[in-house]
Amino acid sequence: MNRFDGVKVLLTGAASGIGRATAIRLAAEGAAVYAVDVSEPGLAETAAAAGGPGTVATRVADVTDEAAVVAAVAGAAETLGGIDVLVNVAGVHKTTPIETLTVDDLHRMFSVNLVGTALFCREALKHLPDRTGVIVNTASLAATQGNPFMTAYAASKGAVLAFSLSLAAELAARRIRVVPISPGAVDTPLTRAPGMFPDGLDLTYFSKIRSYYGAAEPEHIAAAIAFAASSDAAYFTGADLRVDGGAHT
Ligand SMILES: NC(=O)c1ccc[n+]([C@@H]2O[C@H](COP(=O)([O-])OP(=O)(O)OC[C@H]3O[C@@H](n4cnc5c(N)ncnc54)[C@H](O)[C@@H]3O)[C@@H](O)[C@H]2O)c1
Repeated sequence: MNRFDGVKVLLTGAASGIGRATAIRLAAEGAAVYAVDVSEPGLAETAAAAGGPGTVATRVADVTDEAAVVAAVAGAAETLGGIDVLVNVAGVHKTTPIETLTVDDLHRMFSVNLVGTALFCREALKHLPDRTGVIVNTASLAATQGNPFMTAYAASKGAVLAFSLSLAAELAARRIRVVPISPGAVDTPLTRAPGMFPDGLDLTYFSKIRSYYGAAEPEHIAAAIAFAASSDAAYFTGADLRVDGGAHT
């Protein structure tokens, strides 16, 4: 069953982790994917790793650069012959104990995570068809679960969740679904980064809230994104799709 045969998908954050797994999953189900990221080598690896029957075209763009987003969305529509689905995955994380939180940290996380997502939504909506169009935005369990040392990141993901719920309401009359998806911990380059948890932080709290199943694989999240973007989720909109292995709130 190829749920995405002939479906045109614009995907951000496709050069790594969850975004790469999503590009591979959607192409495997038949989608024509237009994969956007700042990392050219990462995009090339994604394109090389993706098999058919779908296709993966790539474009380098910074989601925080408004002109680049406008051009990337126009490029997607031209290359694919339209856009049926937008999936926003691009995001950044930084562990920021409150004592050392900087304005730059706050701006960076809101700029990539919220502003980038919002810009892609605004531009893609010029192309998404009424009744079948879908937007999937990557929030995080951190949007609704207290995570120590992640205040700025969590706030930016809370903003993505709130943005998505209101956009779903705004687009209901057009029957364009908007699904915020909230992964818990996922084993990706983001969570494997050496500076994820600087030395000296008391991480006891995490042992109380983590999933019994351990961290997800990127493919678990890609499968949930594929569900959210497919017609299997035709009645799913404006609600947070938590994929967190039952982590405690
Ligand atoms: N890994 C987790 O535990 C986890 C949990 C919840 C939510 N998330 C979210 O899932 C998404 C993907 O995370 P991941 O773990 O796969 O991380 P990742 O670092 O492996 O991938 C993130 C991708 O976003 C791209 N990116 C970053 N800034 C960009 C910009 N300005 N313009 C274009 N592309 C940019 C990166 O180049 C990278 O390819 C993020 O939004 C993240 O916040 C991750």
